[in-house]
Amino acid sequence: MDWVFVIAGGLLVVFSLTQLFFWTSTGIRRQVNERGYWQLQRQLLVAKIQAAEAQRQLAQQTLLTTAAETKANPEADVAWRGWRKFLVQRLVRETPTTTSVYLAPQDGLQLAEFKPGQFLTLKFGLPGQSSPQIRCYSLSDGARATKYYRITVKDIHGKPQIQGGVSHYVNWQWAIGDTIEVKAPAGDFFLDSSKTEPAILLAGGVGITPLMSMIETVLQRGDHRDMLLFYGLRHGGEHIFKDRLRELVRQHSNINVLNCYSNPESGEVEGRDYHFRGRLSVELIKRALPGPNFHFYMCGPTSFMSDLFQQLLEWGVPEDHIHFEAFGPATVKPMATDGTPTLIESMTPAATCKVHFARSKKTVNWNGGDATLLDTALKSGVSMSSGCRAGQCGSCQTKLLRGEVAYPKSQPHDVEVGHCLPCIAVPKPNGANAGEVVLDA
Ligand code: FES
Repeated sequence: MDWVFVIAGGLLVVFSLTQLFFWTSTGIRRQVNERGYWQLQRQLLVAKIQAAEAQRQLAQQTLLTTAAETKANPEADVAWRGWRKFLVQRLVRETPTTTSVYLAPQDGLQLAEFKPGQFLTLKFGLPGQSSPQIRCYSLSDGARATKYYRITVKDIHGKPQIQGGVSHYVNWQWAIGDTIEVKAPAGDFFLDSSKTEPAILLAGGVGITPLMSMIETVLQRGDHRDMLLFYGLRHGGEHIFKDRLRELVRQHSNINVLNCYSNPESGEVEGRDYHFRGRLSVELIKRALPGPNFHFYMCGPTSFMSDLFQQLLEWGVPEDHIHFEAFGPATVKPMATDGTPTLIESMTPAATCKVHFARSKKTVNWNGGDATLLDTALKSGVSMSSGCRAGQCGSCQTKLLRGEVAYPKSQPHDVEVGHCLPCIAVPKPNGANAGEVVLDA
C-alpha cells in the first residue's frame, strides 16, 4: 500500500506546483497588461497635450501674423482670416422674439476690438439641410468686449411654432455649448471713434443692434461725444434693450433717446412708456435738431431706411453724412422711375452690357450706373444668395463664365479665382469681352 501513498503524494506535489505556476504567471500577465494599459493611457494623454499645445501655438501664430498684417495694413481683418470655431456661451431673451447670443472662441484666446457698427459672418449647419447657411449679424455690444462677441437676432416669423430659417433656429433651438464657425468682424458701416462730432442714430426695430454697439463703445471709452438715438418700433413688446438704454441715459449726460411707437399696445401711455406716437419721420427729427448739418447713422427695415434716406436728402443733409447698414435685398438709395438705382458715385460706366445668367437662362441689359450685378440679378428675378452686400462675407460668390467685372466702390475679400462677388461688382469698362458678362447663376 506504500506505493499508493507515494503516487498520491507525488500527484499532490505536481498539482500544487501547477497551481503555483498558473497563479504566478496570471499575476505577472495581469501586471504586464496593467502596465501596458497605463503606458498606453499615458502615451494617449501626452499625445493629447501635445496636440492641444500645437493647436494653441498655431492659433497664437495666426493671431500674431494677423496682428502684424493689421499693423501694416489697418484695413486688414482685425483678428483672423477664414473661419474660426466659437461656442455659444450665453443666451439672453431680449423680447419675446429676440435673443442675444454671446459667442466665445473655442480656442480660449482673446478677441480683438472691432469697430462699433461692424458685423459677424456666421456659417450655420441647420438640422436636415445639406448645405450651410451663411448669415451676417451686427455686433450689438461694446467693441471692448474681448472675451466674447454678442449678436442679437430677431425671429423673423415672430412665433416659436412657425419653424424654419436661421433666425428661428437661433431663437428657439440654439443651446449653450453649441459650436458655430465665424468670420472676423467686418463692414464699412461703423462709428469712427477718432471723430468727436455729435452722432444722430436712427434705428428701426432690430436695426438697433449696430447702433447699440456704437453707444456702448462711446460710453465704455469715456468719450463725451453727444449721441441722440431715435428708435422706431411698433410697441413696447418689440422694444429691444429698453432697460439698458434707460440705464445709460440715467448714467450719462451725452446720450439721449427718443422712442416712437407706431402701434402702441393698450395700456402703453405716450410720455410715460414712449415719447412719440407714430412712425419715425424727418418731421420729428427736425423738431429735435437745430438743422440738417449732422452725421446720421441708420439701420432698420428697407422701407424705413429708404424713406428716411430720401427725406434726409430733401431736408438738406449732405449725402456723405448719411451712413447706413443694408443687409439682404435692401436698396436704400433713391431709385429712378424705372426702378434702377441711380448713378450716385461717378465712375466710367461700361458701354451698355449684356448680362447672361446661364443657369437661369436669362439675359438682361446692364446700362451703366451703380447697379451691381446682384441688384441686376434680383431685379430680373434671378435668385442669388447674399449676406453683407459689402464684399466681405463671400456668400454671393458666383462663377464668372465670361467677361470681366470691376469693383468701383470697395475691394472684395477672399474671392476665388474665376469667381466674382456680384454684390459689389459691375461689368468692367473695356474689359475682356466688354459688352458681355456671363454668370453661373
Ligand atoms: S453678399 Fe457678402 S460678399 Fe456679397
